[in-house]
Amino acid sequence: MRYEKPTRANPTMRRKDPRRVNRVTKTHLSPTMRRKDPRRVNPAPREWAVDFEGPTAHHDPCCQKPPWGLSPVRRGLTGLPGFVEVVSESRAGETDEASGPGLGRIRRPCEPRRWPGGSRAMEHGRRGRSAILLLLGVSLGLLGGGIAGAAEPAAPTRSLTKMNYGKLPDGTPVELYILRNGDLTVSVMTYGAIVTKIVVPDRSGKPDDVTLGFDTLEGYLGPHPYFGATVGRVANRIAGARFTLGNREYRLAANNGPHSLHGGLKGFDKVVWKAEPVESDEGPSVRMSYRSPDGEEGYPGNLDVSVTFTATSDRALRIDYVATTDQSTPVNLSNHTYFNLGGQTTKNILEHELMIEADRYTPVDATLIPTGELAPVAGTPMDFTRPTPIGQRIEEVGGEPTGYDHNYVLRSGGKTLALAARAFDPATGRILEMLTTEPGVQFYTGNFLDGTITGKGGIVYRKHHGFCLEAQHFPDSVHHPQFPSVILEPGSTYRQTTIYRFLTR
Ligand code: GLA
Repeated sequence: MRYEKPTRANPTMRRKDPRRVNRVTKTHLSPTMRRKDPRRVNPAPREWAVDFEGPTAHHDPCCQKPPWGLSPVRRGLTGLPGFVEVVSESRAGETDEASGPGLGRIRRPCEPRRWPGGSRAMEHGRRGRSAILLLLGVSLGLLGGGIAGAAEPAAPTRSLTKMNYGKLPDGTPVELYILRNGDLTVSVMTYGAIVTKIVVPDRSGKPDDVTLGFDTLEGYLGPHPYFGATVGRVANRIAGARFTLGNREYRLAANNGPHSLHGGLKGFDKVVWKAEPVESDEGPSVRMSYRSPDGEEGYPGNLDVSVTFTATSDRALRIDYVATTDQSTPVNLSNHTYFNLGGQTTKNILEHELMIEADRYTPVDATLIPTGELAPVAGTPMDFTRPTPIGQRIEEVGGEPTGYDHNYVLRSGGKTLALAARAFDPATGRILEMLTTEPGVQFYTGNFLDGTITGKGGIVYRKHHGFCLEAQHFPDSVHHPQFPSVILEPGSTYRQTTIYRFLTR
């Protein structure tokens, strides 16, 4: 049943809407946020200002056409995936103070459309301060709707939305958090703390998702090369899948030839993280936490990890990592997002221009284990000290399959948050800047993508369809005492900040 807008002839139609029941769900605000919520006096929001028949967003997983033919709204109402919960929201010109974090303890399907003038009126209505203003709001809304149907209010400047994203085969629920800040949208899910989407405009303002991955959870549950994932306990390779710490040798699963890669068989990319929205002046933010128990994947010590994703006002995804342990253990966390600044396209990334703030890199053997040398990039195809098309010398790099899959030694030495790399897509004008506190970055050109994976929107991911800039300590550091140490001791805290910032030119 489609839900129609009330008309002058029948202004009460909304009251008859069967979906009015039980829209209020438990709040997900932090205690501090709750205290600040001006609507606490009257926690039951009036949802008349929210139009549940909004347009669906291209590629927005919560707006996928349900196979069983129900609208997203109906799916939500029946408790099936598709319902979202707006955790906080603010609009241009309204401070968080004015609109109040947690504006929408409302459940609603994604991409809801508001009645013209309705959002303001909704505020008044919720606070229960003035029935006159409420009526005025409705009338203005209706008038506005009648006169200028296309005049939508500005999209929320900032919002944090949570939705059910499905379940693992064992029934564990997975949540998706959508962080919006201006024209940046970042989606991250609790399975693998995976970044499923980053939507940013191109030089003409056209928004598109610049990451590889899948449209639904199911895709991520199948085999895939760490699309968008948080990787750990130790990102990259550990030679021979073993290391010695103190007097003890620890054995890991060999999941990459004889080596351990990205944390093992069930690394941090395959566990369900606990999520909570956090307050941040910089923008909507969600903290994912996970306790990796002693012995997990062969690693010693209980490791408490948190990864906080923030969509900042300067159109950046900021990722802050924190970890503590109760035994000495190696820790090397990273994010494995594959970027294609062309957006959802069939074109590969070889024409992107790249600059890396590194004069040296760590050469590798045939199995991608560093030799231990820090070699100069000058005069080699590894040199990205000046912006250079990725494809220009890629065939000279060698390797099987050919392409870049190397750790660069950043000039900053990992001592401060500094620019690590900048990529530019001449076709769309999108620029990605990566900043990190880590000493290294793995530049990987999707060499193992071979057309066997079909991703978002049915796009077949062939070789070099995306590139990764993985902030990290150097690969196989546990076997190279001259590399910056990856050993975390009890009483110390592991911290990393990495920023992916988007611009256009
Ligand atoms: C990292 C590695 C690559 C590859 C990808 C995943 O970037 O360095 O060799 O394993 O992950 O396919």
